[in-house]
Amino acid sequence: MSINVSRLAMNVLHDTAYDMLSSQAQRHLSELLRRGEAYARKGLGVELQQTVQRMPNLTATTVTLGTPTIAATGPAQSPEAISDLRDALMQLAPWRKGPFSLFGVQVDAEWRSDWKWARLRPFLPELHHKRILDIGCGNGYYLFRIAHEAPAIAIGVDPFLRYYYQYLALQRYLQTPGILFIPCALDDVLDLGPTFDVVFCMGMLNHHRSPLDCLRQLAMLLDSRGTAVVEALTISGAGDHALSPYPRYAKMHNCYFLPTVPCLIHWLRRAGFDDVQVVGQTATTCEEQRRTEWMTFESLADFLDPRDPALTVEGYPAPIRTTVVCRAKHPAPATSPPT
Ligand SMILES: C[S@@+](CC[C@H](N)C(=O)[O-])C[C@H]1O[C@@H](n2cnc3c(N)ncnc32)[C@H](O)[C@@H]1O
Repeated sequence: MSINVSRLAMNVLHDTAYDMLSSQAQRHLSELLRRGEAYARKGLGVELQQTVQRMPNLTATTVTLGTPTIAATGPAQSPEAISDLRDALMQLAPWRKGPFSLFGVQVDAEWRSDWKWARLRPFLPELHHKRILDIGCGNGYYLFRIAHEAPAIAIGVDPFLRYYYQYLALQRYLQTPGILFIPCALDDVLDLGPTFDVVFCMGMLNHHRSPLDCLRQLAMLLDSRGTAVVEALTISGAGDHALSPYPRYAKMHNCYFLPTVPCLIHWLRRAGFDDVQVVGQTATTCEEQRRTEWMTFESLADFLDPRDPALTVEGYPAPIRTTVVCRAKHPAPATSPPT
């Protein structure tokens, strides 16, 4: 039996979740969903959608979102059904974020995303009954962890269609209410306006050509005194400067700026935030980010200098991940950053 995958993205959202948004935001959200669905049916989306449609019909009796491995379990299934499930999940690889476990199939993703959540959770504000946006949400690992805390609504956005279909594959079995994934970019959601209590932007800032504009956009999506959680690659140093690597950083061609921590704080202040708290600085290890059977391409070990892991293969300082929690000043800044 085939399923309507686009309904998977939406039908787990309670009507009450929509009621938490202004009527203008509801209208924009409907339009974003319509556009997102159209985008997801094109190009690579055609094949990925078929893969999700072909996944076996299994019903979970227990769903676990509050533990490091997000899991769905149910009554014993036939070996054929489990093998079909595994094959379909493998066709959606590479799996960058996880871990997940579906009916005993362990998806050991490239990243131990649970480690980041464990470090971050003590510094987060209350998520229960809040309106939350996760920009660059990957396959939605953190959306599911947030869902465990019963937000009013949690929306993830990411333009990468493989991640969207990984999310739909997971949602096919997890059936988690209150969350929504829109396959689109940050620029597309700005019309939602100052709608959210908490905005996450983790791992995306360095990939934005204009980090000040990106941060200002986050501030404009936050309701009065809302909280932003920003994680970015930084370089060490007490100065207020940023590295602009070229042509690649750790083999990434799209890493435009890596600030020092003081520089990141200045960017946040200029973008309209205060109460800026640095809550974590972590050098990523090859235990946290590594190649697995679910992500067989190069991983962190291939991006660092084998003779000196404090350097990338290009000779730049190796990545440090800095996490900052801050609050939007109000009124939100005007269209150009304050000088
Ligand atoms: C390094 S990953 C981080 C994923 C996740 N937030 C985490 O912390 O593990 C960056 C993500 O941002 C997404 N991304 C890149 N540019 C984006 C944009 N303009 N708007 C929304 N997402 C974007 C990418 O597709 C990717 O999934």
